[in-house]
Amino acid sequence: MTTTQSTSAGPAVSDPLTVPAFGVISGGQVQRVLEGREVEIVELVAAAYRLHGVGDSVNPPSYFLRFPDRVSARIIALPASVGGPIRVDGVKWVSSFPENVAAGIPRASAVLILNDHDTGYPFACLEASIISATRTAASAALAADWLSRGRPRPTRVGFIGAGLIARYIHLFLAGTGWSFDEIGVHDLSAGSAAGFRGYLEQSGTAGRVTVYDGAEEVIRSSDLVVFATVAAQPYVSDLSWFAHDPLVLHISLRDLAPQVLLASTNVVDDVDHCLKANTSPHLVEQLTGSRDFLDGTLDDVMAGRVTVPAGRPVIFSPFGLGVLDLAVGKYVYDTVASAGDLHIIDDFFHELRRHG
Ligand SMILES: NC(=O)c1ccc[n+]([C@@H]2O[C@H](COP(=O)([O-])OP(=O)(O)OC[C@H]3O[C@@H](n4cnc5c(N)ncnc54)[C@H](O)[C@@H]3O)[C@@H](O)[C@H]2O)c1
Repeated sequence: MTTTQSTSAGPAVSDPLTVPAFGVISGGQVQRVLEGREVEIVELVAAAYRLHGVGDSVNPPSYFLRFPDRVSARIIALPASVGGPIRVDGVKWVSSFPENVAAGIPRASAVLILNDHDTGYPFACLEASIISATRTAASAALAADWLSRGRPRPTRVGFIGAGLIARYIHLFLAGTGWSFDEIGVHDLSAGSAAGFRGYLEQSGTAGRVTVYDGAEEVIRSSDLVVFATVAAQPYVSDLSWFAHDPLVLHISLRDLAPQVLLASTNVVDDVDHCLKANTSPHLVEQLTGSRDFLDGTLDDVMAGRVTVPAGRPVIFSPFGLGVLDLAVGKYVYDTVASAGDLHIIDDFFHELRRHG
């Protein structure tokens, strides 16, 4: 076996093994690649779920770094490996500092490291807050599509929590063919609600936008409900708010009390992942001592192994899988590399001869 530094950008895939060049991809580059490609990205995310569903992935539990002196903050490591045509390993390292928002900067910041399948060498570092928001929104749009089949397609959407993730979810719903007559918005911060309304109006939506004072009005007036808050524990518990059996995208995972889930059809992205970290599904498991309230994964629904019954609310609770970040990140990397736009860090891997 020889180890020489590859002169070309990107990982070598054939023998002899070579050390790949190391590239850095900025948020601007990421955004330019992903812009306008919502349909393609949703298909990519569906393919990643399918690979994960058949076991062609390694996706251990996320690691949560928390701090005694900054209790609302956390940094999460999402290591993963995905096979199929994507064939890459890596880790997303994503910070959530909710206090940032008051200072006018985004809550979340992230990098994604991609590792070469054959040598293990990291070959790219990508700005990943956009990748993270994109894969989250793509998975939400995918779930909205599959979980609304067999019931009237929602025309009234409601957003509870009106930050960056809500914006990306709207972008992906609109970019994959959804249009709404009514858009309801509620946020504890009047400024966030107003900012999101401004975004919606600029987006050219035909729907009538209404800002509500409470979650109840949004839920009652929507047949597709999106939770994208930063709530740490449930604050929605009244079953009568869900009497019209809406489809709920429970992206922020901790908004709904156990009784709401127990009265609904529950779909997750990955059972073991989702029943952790005091998410609402995790609270149900702690309360009932059972996982029987779960109907299956989104992959089960896409594969036809699980059918979503009519006559109950449907709740999608995605924990967020590292394999999705890898899929979107590798897509961005391949696009930037094939355009010849990678910023290669010369001499990044330097000590390459074992004995000098
Ligand atoms: N499941 C996943 O895969 C996944 C991926 C990425 C982000 N997320 C989650 O999405 C959520 C939103 O992220 P973001 O970047 O948009 O955050 P953000 O801080 O930009 O926006 C969150 C908004 O929620 C509002 N809010 C907080 N509590 C509320 C409540 N009880 N009712 C109404 N509004 C409330 C805040 O005022 C804020 O405007 C976070 O909880 C994040 O962890 C989930």
